[in-house]
Amino acid sequence: DCISSRRIMKLPGLIDVHVHVREPGATHKEDWASCSAAALAGGVTLICAMPNTQPPTTDLDALTLTKELADRGSRCDFAVFLGASSNNHTTLPELAPRAAALKMYLNETFTTLRLHDTTIWLKHLESWPPHLPVCVHAEGQTTAAALMMAHLAGRPIHVCHVALREEVLLIRSAKEKGMAVTCEVCPHHLFLTSDDLEHLGLKGEVRPRLASPADQQALWDNLDIIDCFATDHAPHTLEEKSGLQPPPGFPGLETMLPLLLTAVTQGKLSMEDLVNKLHHNPRRIFHLPRQPRTYIEVDLDAQWTIPESPPFSKARWTPFAGRKVTGRVQRVVLRGEMAYVDGQVLVPPGFGEDVRETQPLSPAPVQPVAPPTFAAPLQYSMAANITLPLPP
Ligand code: DOR
Ligand code: ZN
Ligand code: ZN
Ligand code: ZN
Repeated sequence: DCISSRRIMKLPGLIDVHVHVREPGATHKEDWASCSAAALAGGVTLICAMPNTQPPTTDLDALTLTKELADRGSRCDFAVFLGASSNNHTTLPELAPRAAALKMYLNETFTTLRLHDTTIWLKHLESWPPHLPVCVHAEGQTTAAALMMAHLAGRPIHVCHVALREEVLLIRSAKEKGMAVTCEVCPHHLFLTSDDLEHLGLKGEVRPRLASPADQQALWDNLDIIDCFATDHAPHTLEEKSGLQPPPGFPGLETMLPLLLTAVTQGKLSMEDLVNKLHHNPRRIFHLPRQPRTYIEVDLDAQWTIPESPPFSKARWTPFAGRKVTGRVQRVVLRGEMAYVDGQVLVPPGFGEDVRETQPLSPAPVQPVAPPTFAAPLQYSMAANITLPLPP
């Protein structure tokens, strides 16, 4: 093709608030080095790591261990979630400033952390610092219960991986009533449906499940109330996914941005919206610091086909294999260092910083919680126009 016709665009480093790194405990699926390489290859410079590891991140010892492994292993910046259990609601709040957020699992999924008792949900929601985020895995009617409990506790709540029409319409109503609820959607719920189970087979197991085409359409129709895109990168190996009882979950870090850039090219999404949902809104909702001298460059015109096995995740498979996409990550600059260029990850394990240690959160609210907003100013620029200031 004609290189000079390529449109290269500069975007802020992307933030993925929902990543299962698997270390400690299941490093054959993924570890900090491989996960953060996959992140950089996908244009993601900051990941928030979920707590359903082994051991789960539910106390000081596990948080300390996970942070040490991440410090040594991560190539990109990161923060670490704490997980709510049935007996840690009194000990977690003092750890909150060092964590990405609190995660509560309210349905059955790939974890030992499921909370059955709504009185426990309420205890966590009441004791976690009110200005710091709480995220819930809450499917279907459980979303209604979670919103009710957050309302009783008088605090904001973030709903992970919205997948159903019922969920997104409920969140729309709650927002319209002024509730401090935010939410994310995953690429696999935007770009796959239950129809794809025909070719995915049991590999298509994921929680929340792939939903109907009508549910998928409802996500696209209600993008204006979706605050974030997040991968829910949940790597399990091809071997594990090929068994008769495969664990639920899809890898997603290496494929999210190309899929979304393709949607931009197709006119289904604006670039402004993409940057809001992968940078500005995650920063605002999770109180994440600015990453100085950090940006990515994407080639908007590069056409390619997603391979059977994207190069960096240890998962060695993807549910998007064979899909033709338009848009590719060309380079990633993280804190002034060239971190990824043309298929090569250039920064070593340990380059990544724990943003909650380098820029600690205040344990008390510094400012009242901002009400949910749906748009932020345009913050990206064409690389041709590179004299424009970098995103703050
Ligand atoms: O499909 C899923 N996989 N959903 C979850 O909530 C957990 C995740 C995992 O950790 O594998
Ligand atoms: Zn989940
Ligand atoms: Zn998850
Ligand atoms: Zn910005």
